[in-house]
Amino acid sequence: MDYKVTKTNFGEKPDFEYPKPIFLEEMGEEGLKKLFSDFYDIVVDSDIGNFFPQDEQELEKVKAHNVKFFIEAAGGPKLYTQTVGHFDMMKTHEQFSITEKARREWLGCMEEVLRKTNISKEAKESFWAFLETFSKHTVNVDERQELEDLVINKEG
Ligand code: HEM
Repeated sequence: MDYKVTKTNFGEKPDFEYPKPIFLEEMGEEGLKKLFSDFYDIVVDSDIGNFFPQDEQELEKVKAHNVKFFIEAAGGPKLYTQTVGHFDMMKTHEQFSITEKARREWLGCMEEVLRKTNISKEAKESFWAFLETFSKHTVNVDERQELEDLVINKEG
């Protein structure tokens, strides 16, 4: 399968579709827990590792918290809504400075774990499409603007 990543046009919040039921059917909740556990182990050692706690116990909390959302998003029990409340994608991520590059790093870590996951192409593609589109909502720093500011500062 092709883990295609398309460019975020800064400020856009494209519509997205949640993963198809086949994704959770094939992964199971335990499978998703393992997927996200492996994912965060890769993330903490990546270029965006600085966003996440390095302490193992704290990271366990992040894993547990996050997977609740993804199980719910995949059509499973509404664990996140019931225990945490309404999920706001932009609010959750606004405290971090997320560039398009950071988004691609995040997706790259996900590609690494998904490649090792033994589910059908249809299930994987459906999950990837959800992540690839919805992750555009997290980009809150305009790289091009930053670059322009840098050039202006140098020239000035
Ligand atoms: C489809 C893509 C994504 C989804 C659905 C998603 C979802 C979530 C959720 C559910 C949480 C936990 C919220 C809570 O604590 O209640 C979270 C936290 C977080 N996300 Fe994302 N996220 C996505 C992409 C990204 C990207 C691209 C980045 C950065 C490059 C990122 C960085 C973070 C960070 C730093 C946290 C906080 C971790 C902590 O609790 O210390 N996320 N995200």
